[in-house]
Formats: sequence, structure tokens, C-alpha cells
Amino acid sequence: MVVLGANSPIAQACLPMFLRRGYDLLLCARTLDKAQQVKAHLCAEGGWAPERIICRALSLSAESADGQAQALLNSVPDLCGLFTAVGVYAETCDQLSTAQAFDLTAINFTAQIPFLNRTAEILKLKHRQGQLQGRHKRGLIIAVSSVAAVRGRCTNYLYGASKAALSTYLDGMRQQYQDCAAVIELRPGLIATSMLDGRRLPALLIAQPQAVERALERALRFGSPVVYAPRFWGLLAFFWRLIPHRLYGRLKF
Ligand SMILES: NC(=O)c1ccc[n+]([C@@H]2O[C@H](COP(=O)([O-])OP(=O)(O)OC[C@H]3O[C@@H](n4cnc5c(N)ncnc54)[C@H](OP(=O)(O)O)[C@@H]3O)[C@@H](O)[C@H]2O)c1
Repeated sequence: MVVLGANSPIAQACLPMFLRRGYDLLLCARTLDKAQQVKAHLCAEGGWAPERIICRALSLSAESADGQAQALLNSVPDLCGLFTAVGVYAETCDQLSTAQAFDLTAINFTAQIPFLNRTAEILKLKHRQGQLQGRHKRGLIIAVSSVAAVRGRCTNYLYGASKAALSTYLDGMRQQYQDCAAVIELRPGLIATSMLDGRRLPALLIAQPQAVERALERALRFGSPVVYAPRFWGLLAFFWRLIPHRLYGRLKF
């Protein structure tokens, strides 16, 4: 399992589950030292064999993403799946420069496309050649989107739009690669990580990264394509979508 954004607390919460399910890990992160610490923690706390976890440095950008995806994914002979937790947040869209807005969109969406596509192509080929077997007879493509993808909000609509683009892309991939890959979208609500730093939010709504691991576990067990973390965000999203546009445009939250 290739993991992008492996140093993120949300990714870290999910890693033991992949190991338990028999996947070896290729952890990709901007800071290699931190990824090595994540690996050391998994081995020390979980007792996982060090040879099951490899670390690589990887910093995504729109310009280099295609080459990076080819080089990285072609170097994994027994690729079974991709998990991407890469993302950047911005609260005040109207204060971002055009370059910053393009960068955010690239990191949250466009720069991830080559990784998603190349993984799907490899899984399709392996599926045709009967190389995906046993528990892993379909590959896995898992991406961390957000409840912000459900509807735009007056503060963070650029972030929400980039995640909505990712969600729509995953919808299409799910149809196209249904034979060879389970495509799972994780939609966390508010999770206690550095992404919430500096925001005043109701403590009641904030969950720990393990909530995302539990959501992923549900998705894998029940074959759910889209899961909210924690679960109650699914209900909120349902009602959120029902608000008529005319009324929604007059709200501010
Ligand atoms: N926390 C929340 O409330 C929340 C809610 C909904 C969705 N999410 C999503 O969950 C995912 C994980 O976020 P998090 O909360 O765990 O916060 P985080 O620690 O900031 O995770 C973001 C990850 O993206 C990586 N990243 C950012 N820019 C990158 C780049 N140019 N190249 C490669 N990697 C890059 C970061 O790498 P470094 O570790 O090197 O900085 C980090 O590992 C994100 O996609 C986020 O949008 C979070």
C-alpha cells in the first residue's frame, strides 16, 4: 500500500489497520525524518516487522506530479493500493493570491490525479493478469476528502471546491475501475490535527484521528464507497444538502 501524506495524523491512525490486513507499507512524506519516526513508532508500539515498512521523501507539486507518480508507482512491483491523505487548508479564500489558490487546488486535487490514475492502470493490468489474489483480489484506492466537499461555505469554499473535485473524480473512477479496485472516499468532519490550529470551533464537534480509522474499517468491512468520520457528519451532510440555494446563500457559518 502506497501512502501519500504519511506523516498526517489521519494517515498515521489508519496505518496499523493496513498492516493488520496484510498490506506492507510504502510511506511517502515531505519530511523523511518524520516518516522514519512514524515507522519506528509502528514497529515499537505495534510490534510490526521493520521490513514491512519503507519510507520515501515526496513533495507534491503540479509541475512534477506526473513524473513523480510514474517513478514512484512503477518502482512498486507488488502494488495493491494507494491511500492519499495529502491536503492543505485555507480558511480565508478571498485573501489568497491567484498563485496560492492554484497551489491549494493542485495539492488537494490536480497533483493527485497522476497518482490515482497510474495506480488504477496498474491495478487493472494486475487484475487482467490474475495477479490480485486472495484477500487482495481487488486493489484499493482510498482518498481523504472532507465534509467541506458537500457544500461551499463563505470562509473555506476554495478548500471545499478542491475536495469536491476530488470527490467527483473518485465517483467516476469507482465506475470505471469497479472490476479491479474498490475506490473509497473518506469524509472526515472536524478532526483534532494541526489543520484546525487557529480556528474557533465547538469542542463537541471535534473528533480524534482514530474516528477516521474506524470509518475506513467500516468502509472495508461493508464495502461502503463513501464514509463520514465520525458517522454523524453523514446525517448533517444529508440535511445540509436539503437547504434551498436561495436560503443557503443568506446564511453565514
Ligand atoms: N483535520 C481535519 O479536521 C480534516 C477534516 C477533513 C479532511 N481533512 C483532510 O485530511 C487529510 C489529512 O489532514 P490532517 O488533518 O491529518 O492534517 P495534516 O497533518 O496537515 O495533513 C496533511 C498532509 O498533507 C501533506 N502535504 C501537504 N502539502 C503537501 C505537498 N505539497 N506534498 C506532499 N505532501 C503534502 C502534509 O505533509 P507534511 O506532514 O509534510 O506537512 C500532511 O502529511 C487532508 O487531506 C485534509 O484535507 C482533515
